[in-house]
Amino acid sequence: MTDTQIEWDDSFLIGIEELDYEHKVLINDINRLHLELARQDENSEIEKCLGDIYARMQAHFALEEHVMKEREYEFFDEHKREHERLLDSYSGYMIQILNDTAVSFSNPIEDTLKHWVINHILNSDKKMSLMVQEFRNNLPNLTNS
Ligand code: FEO
Repeated sequence: MTDTQIEWDDSFLIGIEELDYEHKVLINDINRLHLELARQDENSEIEKCLGDIYARMQAHFALEEHVMKEREYEFFDEHKREHERLLDSYSGYMIQILNDTAVSFSNPIEDTLKHWVINHILNSDKKMSLMVQEFRNNLPNLTNS
């Protein structure tokens, strides 16, 4: 997967506008990392990209967890643990890369990131979105009472 960028398409949409927007931006950041890793010259911004992605994921997970809490998502803890695992493994790779001046193309961070993010969006985030939207649709309509 390291030789291609992730092409955004509507199959990534989960139906919650602010989260869809952030997923799109995160995927753009991963594609930027792909280009920087491929460039491998003295001007490459690998370090900056890695930091940007970490910050982006942290902010995104915080927002998504807020949405899940607010809508009383039944599998909140499980989903939050997935976020924590992703951040943990990502920061582990990041430290490895930052300590290794000879970053190689075989570095697994890009593949891991793509698999994790895509699988997480397509499975866990979609499941969450379906359930929280169902919750919202089932709220009593107070304007009619
Ligand atoms: Fe969009 Fe659960 O991260």
